[in-house]
Amino acid sequence: MRLAMEASPLLLLLSLTLLLATFLQAKAVPSLQEQAGALLAWKATLQSHPAQLHSWSRGNNTSTWPCSWYGIECSKHQASHQEVITKISLRGLRLRGELDALNFTALATMTSIQLSHNRLTGRIPPGIVSLRDLRFLLLQRNQIRGPLSPALASLKKLRCLMLQQNELSGEIPRQIGELGNLVTLNLSANHLFGPIPGELGYLKKLVRLDFTCNNLTGSIPRNLGNLTKLTILYLDVNQLSRHLPSELGYLVNLRELSIGINKLTGSIPHTFGSLINLVLLYLSDNELSGCIPQGLGYLVNLKMMDLSSNNFIGSIPSTFGSLINLTQLYLWNNTLSSCIPQELGYLVNLEDLDLSYNKLMCSIPNTFRSLINLTGFRVSDNHLMGPIPNIFGFLTKLTMLYLDDNQFSGHVPREIGTLKDLQNLQFDGNNLSGPLPPGLCSGGRLKHFTAYDNNLIGPLPSSLVHCKSLVRVRLERNEIKGDISELGVHPNLLYMDMSSNKLFGQLSSH
Ligand SMILES: *[C@@H]1O[C@H](CO)[C@@H](O)[C@H](O)[C@H]1NC(C)=O
Ligand SMILES: *[C@@H]1O[C@H](CO)[C@@H](O)[C@H](O)[C@H]1NC(C)=O
Ligand SMILES: *[C@@H]1O[C@H](CO)[C@@H](O)[C@H](O)[C@H]1NC(C)=O
Ligand SMILES: *[C@@H]1O[C@H](CO)[C@@H](O)[C@H](O)[C@H]1NC(C)=O
Ligand SMILES: *[C@@H]1O[C@H](CO)[C@@H](O)[C@H](O)[C@H]1NC(C)=O
Ligand SMILES: *[C@@H]1O[C@H](CO)[C@@H](O)[C@H](O)[C@H]1NC(C)=O
Ligand SMILES: *[C@@H]1O[C@H](CO)[C@@H](O)[C@H](O)[C@H]1NC(C)=O
Ligand SMILES: *[C@@H]1O[C@H](CO)[C@@H](O)[C@H](O)[C@H]1NC(C)=O
Ligand SMILES: *[C@@H]1O[C@H](CO)[C@@H](O)[C@H](O)[C@H]1NC(C)=O
Ligand SMILES: *[C@@H]1O[C@H](CO)[C@@H](O)[C@H](O)[C@H]1NC(C)=O
Repeated sequence: MRLAMEASPLLLLLSLTLLLATFLQAKAVPSLQEQAGALLAWKATLQSHPAQLHSWSRGNNTSTWPCSWYGIECSKHQASHQEVITKISLRGLRLRGELDALNFTALATMTSIQLSHNRLTGRIPPGIVSLRDLRFLLLQRNQIRGPLSPALASLKKLRCLMLQQNELSGEIPRQIGELGNLVTLNLSANHLFGPIPGELGYLKKLVRLDFTCNNLTGSIPRNLGNLTKLTILYLDVNQLSRHLPSELGYLVNLRELSIGINKLTGSIPHTFGSLINLVLLYLSDNELSGCIPQGLGYLVNLKMMDLSSNNFIGSIPSTFGSLINLTQLYLWNNTLSSCIPQELGYLVNLEDLDLSYNKLMCSIPNTFRSLINLTGFRVSDNHLMGPIPNIFGFLTKLTMLYLDDNQFSGHVPREIGTLKDLQNLQFDGNNLSGPLPPGLCSGGRLKHFTAYDNNLIGPLPSSLVHCKSLVRVRLERNEIKGDISELGVHPNLLYMDMSSNKLFGQLSSH
């Protein structure tokens, strides 16, 4: 009001221009006829003719035309009050043709374009900048190529931009940072390269960001720490390098953080302990180093944590015992040392645990008898020693048990023979003695069994000799006795090495 009172000439001019612009815009609204014409012209260029598009014809019911066509929705245009096309939805019709053949100028009234899961080629046409009301642009899973135009920045109302699984190349234009209404940005599985622009930090409403499977380089910009609404951040399978910015720890709404298969170095910032809503943390296959921060143990909602194939040192934090929702924990292929903390045994929901290829010492904690939902348990290639504890009778769901390449000694616990679901069993390369546990393969599922390079003695359990599911078995360099003729007739068996034992019998060949 105060402004209007002291109306300066400049203000007057401004209002006039605004008025004129509104008028022009209203006039510029294409008629339904023009819009239908643009769709029909595009249909004529398509190389495929899905049945759904039969309704797109001049001969159809003119009173509802083209608003009753398949995949077309109309609404009253706000400024001009005329009926216009606002939505097009042709997902998964195997449309073959050029996206740029569609006259976007005629379709300037669109709020939603859903053309995903087709075979559209060509570039994102420059004419797309006339779609000032566009909120949804879903072109994923096509064969769209070329670079992303900086002009996309004029689609100011855009909420959802899904261009994943295309053949886009070039750099991500920093002007994307001007799309202040974006909620979802998915550019995964393209051929984008160059840096992630720091301007993305302006996308204050962004909830999901996915750049997986491109060739992005440089560091992860610290400005991403401004995206406080973010729940999903996927940057895996790129060439990102340098340190993880500590600012990522400000993303307290983050549920999934996935940056695996990159070239990140440095340690995990301590701020990550604030990401209390995290359900998934995936940082594997990088060059991260240092100790695993104790603070990760505060992320009590985590279901999956994968820190494998990095250069982490030190011990597994005992705080991990608080991560009671964890179902998958992967720490393999690092340089972790010390004993396995007994607190890991509190993770009663664990289904898959892989600690292989580290330098872990001592034995498997007895607390692990509580991990009753484990199906996969792998501790291969560590410095574990002493007897294998008697816990396996409790872990009845195990399908995969890898204890190989450690320094376990003593007898193989009999309970291992009672695991009916076991498919893969490895305890080769230890210092185990005594007989093989009776009952091995009594569940009839055992496929891969290796126990070579131990001091095992005694007969082959008859359940193993009759094990028809066996694909691969290696027991060489033990003191095992018995007749192996039976084994030779199992149709699934592809590889067997029983050499350097005390076996006899004729193997039939087939
Ligand atoms: C007209 O459209 C309706 C509904 O979209 C469709 O079922 C019909 O086949 C169309 N008719 C012609 C002649 O294209
Ligand atoms: C055209 O569509 C209108 C509205 O749905 C309907 O009332 C009319 O009967 C249709 N005319 C023909 C020829 O199908
Ligand atoms: C696209 O549509 C606009 C508006 O209807 C029209 O002026 C223009 O000539 C069309 N362009 C082409 C290449 O058909
Ligand atoms: C990344 O770049 C390399 C080398 O230029 C190329 O071989 C590879 O296909 C690219 N990957 C993607 C996903 O574009
Ligand atoms: C991005 O698209 C891919 C492929 O469709 C999908 O798997 C992924 O979940 C999407 N990312 C987000 C954050 O929604
Ligand atoms: C975003 O974050 C950076 C670095 O953390 C900061 O310097 C900048 O002011 C922030 N920008 C906005 C728009 O919040
Ligand atoms: C664990 O999961 C349950 C069920 O999904 C959920 O209710 C709970 O909030 C999660 N977090 C913790 C710390 O228990
Ligand atoms: C183990 O991690 C190193 C990097 O730390 C990597 O080069 C190697 O490929 C990984 N091994 C496997 C089997 O993935
Ligand atoms: C184990 O799995 C079962 C079935 O999926 C589930 O009901 C149970 O909550 C899980 N956790 C424990 C500790 O039993
Ligand atoms: C293997 O175990 C036996 C006892 O069973 C022990 O005497 C021997 O020292 C162990 N060897 C190694 C290399 O640990």
